[in-house]
Amino acid sequence: MLLDNKGFDLWANNYDLDVNLSNQTNTYPFAGYKDILATIYSEIMSKKPCRVLDIGIGTGILAAKLYEGGNDITGLDFSEEMLKIAFGKMPNAKLVQHNFTGGLPAEIAGEKFDFIVLTYAIHHLRYEEQREFILSALDYLSEDGRIIIGDIAFENTAMHVR
Ligand SMILES: C[S@@+](CC[C@H](N)C(=O)[O-])C[C@H]1O[C@@H](n2cnc3c(N)ncnc32)[C@H](O)[C@@H]1O
Repeated sequence: MLLDNKGFDLWANNYDLDVNLSNQTNTYPFAGYKDILATIYSEIMSKKPCRVLDIGIGTGILAAKLYEGGNDITGLDFSEEMLKIAFGKMPNAKLVQHNFTGGLPAEIAGEKFDFIVLTYAIHHLRYEEQREFILSALDYLSEDGRIIIGDIAFENTAMHVR
């Protein structure tokens, strides 16, 4: 079952620890997490300084590293508690509380980003919503901008529902 914003609020304080444990023990859902984030981090840092939009930013594990690396960070999340932790790591980032099931928020209307990243976030949309969401995000890319998605995936629907 997918969590709502209150569920993520309750998870926020333990999130970084849980991610680490799941990554270290190579278990679902964060097996490979650090490798995925490291790949995205290297890609963005090779083009820095960049304007980065992190959708479903959570506690800002990736974004905080990019922030420390000199990039400009905007982050969206519907969990107030996740955003509080992210804010503690990135006091000068633009963080917006927003539910992305309704698309992108008015607070970033007209803005352009060099990278839009979604790590472990887009699976919170139904498959049929994901395509539309990605298409709508294209309007927020700078001329050579890119969307990077790192997330869980399944070989087929049967594997997903197991
Ligand atoms: C599994 S966490 C991933 C956090 C971070 N991107 C990472 O890689 O560690 C998913 C995040 O997406 C947020 N999220 C889930 N559904 C959302 C929605 N509909 N709108 C906004 N944020 C959402 C959650 O609050 C949570 O912070």
